[in-house]
Amino acid sequence: MVRINPFIAVLRGEEPERIPIWFMRQAGRYLPEYHKMRQGRSIQEMCSDPSLINEVTKQPVNILGVDAAIIFSDIMVPLEAMGFEITFREGVGPVVSNSIKEKPDMTGITPFHEKNLKYPIRESITRFRENNPGVPLIGFTGGPITLLSYATKGSADRDLEITKNVMYTREGTYLEALDMISEMIVSYAKLQISAGVDAIQIFDSWAGSLSPYVFEKYVDRSLRIVLESLKDTGTPIIYFGTGLSGLLDQITKLNFDVLSMDWRVRLSKVRSMTRGKFILQGNLDPRVAATPNYLQETKNILEDIGEDPNFIFNLGHGVIPITPPENLRSIVNYVHSFR
Ligand code: CP3
Repeated sequence: MVRINPFIAVLRGEEPERIPIWFMRQAGRYLPEYHKMRQGRSIQEMCSDPSLINEVTKQPVNILGVDAAIIFSDIMVPLEAMGFEITFREGVGPVVSNSIKEKPDMTGITPFHEKNLKYPIRESITRFRENNPGVPLIGFTGGPITLLSYATKGSADRDLEITKNVMYTREGTYLEALDMISEMIVSYAKLQISAGVDAIQIFDSWAGSLSPYVFEKYVDRSLRIVLESLKDTGTPIIYFGTGLSGLLDQITKLNFDVLSMDWRVRLSKVRSMTRGKFILQGNLDPRVAATPNYLQETKNILEDIGEDPNFIFNLGHGVIPITPPENLRSIVNYVHSFR
């Protein structure tokens, strides 16, 4: 019998031979092997070279033994194709110089077209597929509120302070930008799907800063457009955010396949609050993953989820740079031998 990869098995609704695991932001700065390749290159340069992308994407599969790769890129890449001017500041992250806060009329911002994409995302996915048969590949996009918050404030707006202000003082601008970003998410996801990814994760990292009312009024419409437009592709869609526990009634009305939660809630509680609708992914605290207590906390999560086969182990947010790779490797081994 051919053994099917556990990540793929769970996405198909089949019983996996072991619990699948991968880590958000698994390609990156906690790995000495990544630093080596990054030396003398900007993140934009890294994202421009399909052979580097291939190697960096594969590193965590080889080094940690995770069950899936995530294509190396950044959520800001397609915003650049819409005319947002982006630089990556060392130690800070992406900065947008022509943000909506600075330029509320959005001159120079256009709908997304693949032809304006500076980065070889299609080629990189195709190449990874060819070089790594049997390794599941996850594509991704930022989520509507997270991308909109970068476009609005011009830098990380974790509690959405500036974004909420624009939402209510310039509703027209907000809705226009939200619709353009929703269309971009659809096109950008379709591009990756047609190139061969096995799933799409939507990183809506800051969505949990919204009240359920605001989420329902402003974000729900965007997510519905995205889900409806991607339905025919049959590709599993993973939704991730931090602080989503208070939005579960709203999220349960949406037809994602997988819901990726942060560490602030027990997954068994999420399971009952979402009435078993989703495959669950999560939810080890990345700060704990970087401490000596990482296996105890891994065990807590696994015992809480029990025999539930609709589960993919992950962190509750991205790997932080101080994490010893050794910790992640032993988490993988522990999860793989748990059942
Ligand atoms: O392994 C992977 O997950 C693949 C690649 C990936 C990157 N960014 C590469 C990257 C993914 C999935 C992302 C998503 C991303 N980018 C998010 C959503 C997830 C999250 O962490 O909340 C956000 C908000 C961003 C925006 C961003 N890009 C920030 C805040 C930063 C700087 C700080 C940081 O967290 O690394 C980046 C730069 C960036 N994107 C790096 C990497 C590997 C750092 C690169 C470097 O300095 O070499």
